[in-house]
Order: sequence, then structure tokens, then C-alpha cells
Amino acid sequence: MTQKILVLPGDGIGPEITAQASRILAACQARGLDVDVEEALLGGSAYDAHGEPLPAETLEKAKAARAILLGAVGGPKWDRIEDLSKRPEKGLLGVRKHLGLFGNLRPAITYPQLASASSLKPELVAGLDIMIVRELTGGIYFGQPRGIEERDGERVGFNTYVYSESEIERIGRVAFEMAQKRDKRLCSVDKANVLEATILWREVMERLAPEYPDVELSHMYVDNAAMQLVRAPKQFDVVVTGNMFGDILSDAAAMLTGSIGMLPSASLNESGQGMYEPCHGSAPDIAGQGIANPLATILSVAMMLRYSLDEPALAERIEAAVGKVLDDGLRTADIAAEGTRTVSTAEMGDAVLEAFEAL
Ligand code: NAI
Ligand code: MG
Repeated sequence: MTQKILVLPGDGIGPEITAQASRILAACQARGLDVDVEEALLGGSAYDAHGEPLPAETLEKAKAARAILLGAVGGPKWDRIEDLSKRPEKGLLGVRKHLGLFGNLRPAITYPQLASASSLKPELVAGLDIMIVRELTGGIYFGQPRGIEERDGERVGFNTYVYSESEIERIGRVAFEMAQKRDKRLCSVDKANVLEATILWREVMERLAPEYPDVELSHMYVDNAAMQLVRAPKQFDVVVTGNMFGDILSDAAAMLTGSIGMLPSASLNESGQGMYEPCHGSAPDIAGQGIANPLATILSVAMMLRYSLDEPALAERIEAAVGKVLDDGLRTADIAAEGTRTVSTAEMGDAVLEAFEAL
């Protein structure tokens, strides 16, 4: 059956980078990938056209799609919108919420060709390949009660760190299954010495472990995990954690690779429906210049093929094509180094497409 793909270019560099990723998607269609590709507005561009960051039409298309490819949303142009519900990022949160995208996969991979771009010593990051599995729809970012209120003559701000067993179990299963497909090591990150919610988290992970006897489960407190990520990142294979810890650790892990322009991500629900997007934002400082790195978005298409469309061979082909252009010394400005050739967004897209066809 023909599956639907929705492309949401978004704002800033979004349209430039999704244009290149869409060319790769078209090349996959030419190789038999049976999908219908549509586009819709999200974020600031949707607000400008319809007064809403998530127009009803976009939401309907998103619900009907097997997979969504997003560029990025937001930018200074919309930072002064007073009604917070109309801000571009609300559009993105709305899609996540309506589709129940609870499983956020954030790979941190150091390409051997780019190891010297890291802020850590090359030997610490060469060959780095971590998969952070972050719970995306629960935890303290959504817990009730929350707010700021007057208590005993002063204002008090409060949030609630809450996870149910079923929420922990479903993200735990995503992580265990991921570990089974990789190096079979899973590190669950919590703060079980202080937070009850994460004592439960740890218990549920332990309860699941016997169902995945080939996976070695370990536990780490989040403060230690932050230290270990910077001290010896290659000790990790798959990391599973809650929403807030995952937000912070995945950004730190991304920076270890030295090139935010290279990192894709996936957000999945229970049926395998997913949204795929680069880890970076809309880069308004370079928007419209044709110099943005499209590789994180192109690699997001590879994740889409692997996790929502069950086309691992095409995914590997895209990843190999990206490896080939890096081997050939092509670099966009953000990853440029001595002895490499600096290319534009479109030239990088051309090169990946050519390598994809030639493989
Ligand atoms: P950013 O990731 O957009 O940019 C940070 C720096 O990295 C900038 O100097 C930018 O030029 C550079 N950069 C990012 N992606 C690049 C690429 N593909 N190629 C070359 N250089 C690249 O983060 P920033 O500046 O904090 O946020 C800018 C806007 O993006 C804000 O409005 C923010 O809210 C939004 N944003 C949106 C996200 C999303 O849609 N998922 C995620 C993060 C930020
Ligand atoms: Mg973040």
C-alpha cells in the first residue's frame, strides 16, 4: 500500500535543507519506494499565512502520514508574538502531542572524517556511536500541577516530575529493542537517589530486563552520566532516560561530535508513525544564503526509511552516500577544515545524490 510522507519545510534554513532531502526521497521513489510525498506549512511560515503555527490542514495531513520530515521552525521574526500559543514551537509541540510521539531517538555519531571538529580530543570521540532514547511526552515538562503562585507572601514556582509505569515501560521497550539491534548494552539514566519517580523508573527497567536476556542493563545517576559523557563517551551504546535528562544529555552528546549540522533525530509513537528532523534549529543567521548543511536532514530521511518505512537497505545506501561525499573532502561551511572543499547546500545535495546513484 502506498504510504504518505509529509514534508514540513518550516522556517529559516528549513526550506533549503528539506529541498535537498526531498531530492533523495525522490531518488528512493525511483528505486521503488512506494510513497506519496506532500508538503504543508508549520511554524512561523504557517503563522504568517494562516495566523496559526499548526493549521488544521497541516494537522490532518500529519495524522494521515506514516512519516513526517521536518526542517526546523522559529526565528527572531516570530519571537515577539505575545500570545505564546501562536509561537512557531507550539506548532511543533502540537504535532508531537497529537501523534503521541513519545520515543525520541537521538544518535550521536562521530564521522571519522570529522573527528577533529570535536571539542574533545580526537581519540576520545573517534568511532563514537551513541543512541540516546529520550522519553518525549511525559515527565516534568508535562507534569501537573505546575505554575507560579503566591504562598506565604512570596511567589513560588513549581513543576511535577511524574511518570507512570506504562509510560516507563513503553520507552523502556523501545530502548531494549534498540540495544538488541546494536551493541546490546543499555544504560538507564535516572536520579534514583533523590527522585521517587525515578526509583520507579529503575524498577520498571529491571522488571523488563529478563525479557531481553541478550541486553546488558546498567543504571547511572544523571550527574555521573554527564561527567562520563565528557570523560569517556565511547563507554555508552544505548542510553534511555526521561524527558528532561534526555533533553540535556542529548544536546551534550550532540556537541561531542563537533557538528550539529550532521545529526538527525526521530520521534516515534507505538505504531511506528514518526517525525524525522535534524537536531539543529532554523539557523536564522545563515538562512537564505544557500550555505546550510543539509546532511542532518538527509540523514533524517535515512532514519525515516529505517524506523517508519522498513527500508533498511535504502537507509544504509543514503548513509553510505553521505560517507562517500565526506571521504571525497566535500564540506559545507560549518564543517569546513583545511584541505577540504567548501560547497553550498545545493552542491552538497548534488554530491550526495550522485553518490547515492553510483553505489
Ligand atoms: P540553531 O541550531 O538554529 O543554530 C545554532 C548555530 O548553528 C547557528 O550559528 C547556526 O547558523 C548553526 N547551524 C545550525 N544548523 C546548521 C546547519 N544545518 N548548517 C550550518 N550551520 C548550522 O539554534 P539557535 O540559534 O539556538 O535557534 C535558532 C532558531 O531555531 C530559534 O528560533 C529556535 O527556537 C529554533 N529551533 C528550532 C528547533 C526545531 O525546529 N526543532 C530546534 C532548535 C531551535
Ligand atoms: Mg534541547
